[in-house]
Amino acid sequence: MILPVSWNIVEARLEKAMGILNDETPMAFEGPFHVGIDLGTSDVVLMVLDGSGEPVAVFLEWAEVVRDGVVVDFLGANDIVFRLKEKAEKKLNISITGASTSFPPGTDPRLSTNILENQLIEVLHASDEPSCVARLLHLDKTAVVDVGGGTTGTAVVQKGNVVFSDDEATGGTHISLVIAGHFGISVEEAEKRKRKSEEYGILALATPTFQRICHIVSCHIQNQEIDQFIFSGGTCSLPGLSRLFEKELGRKILIPKHPILLTPLAIAALGFS
Ligand SMILES: Nc1ncnc2c1ncn2[C@@H]1O[C@H](COP(=O)(O)OP(=O)(O)OP(=O)(O)O)[C@@H](O)[C@H]1O
Ligand SMILES: [Mg+2]
Repeated sequence: MILPVSWNIVEARLEKAMGILNDETPMAFEGPFHVGIDLGTSDVVLMVLDGSGEPVAVFLEWAEVVRDGVVVDFLGANDIVFRLKEKAEKKLNISITGASTSFPPGTDPRLSTNILENQLIEVLHASDEPSCVARLLHLDKTAVVDVGGGTTGTAVVQKGNVVFSDDEATGGTHISLVIAGHFGISVEEAEKRKRKSEEYGILALATPTFQRICHIVSCHIQNQEIDQFIFSGGTCSLPGLSRLFEKELGRKILIPKHPILLTPLAIAALGFS
């Protein structure tokens, strides 16, 4: 695969990745491959791309090993990476000895790279989360925003180069807390209701948090010429966000159909750079 790729190709690959999510069925596989490991606040994702950039294995495990971009459970994170690696190796009959990874902008990359190295996985590339997405696509006058579980990271791209990136600790977990408080339920139950957005009127409940996220993003892009925003991260799965973001940020908004897998796809694609 030659980077960068078009938005349509990214959408098609995300669709494919979602179709094989946590599918352990062994498949005949040969040739080169690239592995990306995304150690997030809410989940850890390992994605394997074949030599043409198509996802061939995707494994996700929900986790609480990272908080506000910082690994708080080193052993837990190690165990998850070990399990996901083993699943991918079994499925494709391969041996994973190297991978790319990422970290929130402004945090220490070693928090992620140490975990890979501990599993004897050589770190081939490490870049901050929104910058990975920025490298995947050909972009100009664009801000890439990754709204994950615990953090919102922004990367500003001018003429294909990331000229600025920053991160703040607000994300989907904060929305779950709002939902839990509103209904008087546990955070675990709130996580479930968040996925039944229309039934529980989640967008309206979450609007103040999203307005805060847009304020953070506006501060990140200060003085930059921006024509469009690309949103990544599981929190952007909530239906109706494009319109809300467009209203708050006053620019064109692109959110892929499966935003939770965009950053993992972009991390794995670092192997092509
Ligand atoms: N269908 C959905 N609707 C709403 N929110 C969702 C949905 N699916 C996942 N989420 C939320 O997405 C968040 C996880 O997204 P993501 O995997 O991008 O985060 P992360 O990479 O673990 O976190 P971070 O990047 O902040 O470290 C969680 O808060 C989860 O509740
Ligand atoms: Mg993330």
